[in-house]
Amino acid sequence: MCGIVGYVGGRASIDVLMNGLKRLEYRGYDSAGVAVIAEDGTLSTRKRAGKLAVLSEDIAEQPLPDSTTGIGHTRWATHGGPTDENAHPHLSADGKLAVIHNGIIENFAAIRDELAGEGYTFASETDTEAAAILLGREYERTGDLREAFKAVVGRLDGAFTLLAVHQDEPDLVVGARQNSPLVVGLGQDENFLGSDVAAFVEYTRFALAVGEGEMVAITPEGVEVTDFAGNPVQSTPFEVQWDASAAEKGGWSSFMAKEISEEPDAVANTVRGRVADDGTVRIPELEGLDDLFRDISRVIIVACGTAAYSGMVSKYAIESWTRLPVEVALSHEFRYSDPVVDASTLVVSISQSGETMDTLMAVKYAAERGAKTLSICNTQGATIPRESDAVVYTHAGPEVAVASTKAFVAQITALYLFGLHLASVRGSLSTEKIIEETAELQAVPEKIAEVLTQHDEIAQLAHWMSDTRSVLFLGRHVGYPIALEGALKLKELAYIHAEGFAAGELKHGPIALIEPGQPVFVMVPSPRGSQTMHAKIVSNIQEIRARGARVIAIAEEGDVAVLPYADSVIRVPLASPLFEPLLTVIPTQIFAMELSEAKGLDVDQPRNLAKSVTVE
Ligand code: F6R
Repeated sequence: MCGIVGYVGGRASIDVLMNGLKRLEYRGYDSAGVAVIAEDGTLSTRKRAGKLAVLSEDIAEQPLPDSTTGIGHTRWATHGGPTDENAHPHLSADGKLAVIHNGIIENFAAIRDELAGEGYTFASETDTEAAAILLGREYERTGDLREAFKAVVGRLDGAFTLLAVHQDEPDLVVGARQNSPLVVGLGQDENFLGSDVAAFVEYTRFALAVGEGEMVAITPEGVEVTDFAGNPVQSTPFEVQWDASAAEKGGWSSFMAKEISEEPDAVANTVRGRVADDGTVRIPELEGLDDLFRDISRVIIVACGTAAYSGMVSKYAIESWTRLPVEVALSHEFRYSDPVVDASTLVVSISQSGETMDTLMAVKYAAERGAKTLSICNTQGATIPRESDAVVYTHAGPEVAVASTKAFVAQITALYLFGLHLASVRGSLSTEKIIEETAELQAVPEKIAEVLTQHDEIAQLAHWMSDTRSVLFLGRHVGYPIALEGALKLKELAYIHAEGFAAGELKHGPIALIEPGQPVFVMVPSPRGSQTMHAKIVSNIQEIRARGARVIAIAEEGDVAVLPYADSVIRVPLASPLFEPLLTVIPTQIFAMELSEAKGLDVDQPRNLAKSVTVE
């Protein structure tokens, strides 16, 4: 959840650290801090509660000494509230060593007791400080940061990425990871560490993923990766596919506004290179893996939040195309439910970050029980794809706004491609049908672009409704997960009560919530897809309208049946039913973003949230 950056080289470290933290701020934004080793060999730290801007202003007013080595941290509080004291870095007892940490050290209380018994005192309530003091004690014993670090990481339980510097070894930053992300940026006479490549992509596009249970030491001259016992480990560098400008706002009012505008590209780029000349799906990453998918008898999708809703949408398509049963499980529920998982199960995880701890644990659980695992992921070098048998990357580009938008449509796109691939491998769909569905997917970017042209009308609706305290969302079939997703976006961004329901469920309870003026978004399925479903939704609309609801229908162009009953209609272009969610979700995202802006809230960094949830 926290963002971590480390640097050693020839540049002013404070600039590299602050730029890196700016790009990682989406990971946590309740406090931030840096530690640098000054040219005179002393360690200086600065840390402040609040967003990164607070730390930035503080440093601008009272600059830190010149330095070319340092570590920086942006925090999402777990142990101890967001205060200056609890912000990272934390120091050893002699103040010569600084540590930053992402994750939770589960046995910190025992370590703290042990150190307290030896007379050490603590300035914060954090688990991290226990590690810092312990590391300081080990440094006193060994006089060597790498050795001291090795002694400490082996003692820690839980999930952590830990970075440390010591003023007596000014050209060295050490790091370790266990169930929490860490990537190395490879430069010329300089090297970087980051929670993800965004931390350093401005300086280098060459990176190295540090594996589970591995440590790394960076100096200006080189990078050494070892396991926790100190044995060398071979890692293969990779090139980051996007450049630094992709992670910048580029004139938009928010990252979210930019990311919503990029949705046509997110879909197009995810499809690109995966359609053969004959119009069928060809996923290069899955070549040679047909056996993995041929013998499965069921699919379980594991994911959280928005990613889980993309799984719920995709379930309909994958089942329809492959005739395999598909179940969607929230990752954190999955492994505690004693699920039926065996070698004939394919577990598909969906994760934008590729680091969500709940999802990672679900994948590991499934793999341990012999299941095959496939990752749908947006972040190269992330942990979940590394832990999976196969990966299909979404090419949405970096998603910086904390609430997910473009990754959602890219996830559905990748899952649809995979569904068609699976249908082809298993022979469950004719080639003609595969070509037809693939062509429909290729047409989606242009249709999303058409929906985006209604931005101003949707914004106006949101501004009129800025005093609204509750909004309901209804949908059927693939419209149901969109109702859930629409409600989630509104909760996250505008902090108002919102709920999504399967429209058929209305009469079984939720209709009691309808009172005069209650806004209800309704995802209206195409009458061309299913007359029955369309007719049923129209009668649901009539039922709520009769009770005074204010109906906002999201319906396809030319559907006049909704006109007499809807207060507002947002149009989406014609698409066959399975592809409608890729269009109907867009107005709900724009609405939530605009309502948040109308209320003067921070669209990109909603309260209490972090983009990458790396604790369980
Ligand atoms: C909501 C949102 C979250 C994430 C969820 C999973 O807008 O962004 O619900 O979808 O935390 O994150 P990833 O996809 O990184 O595993």
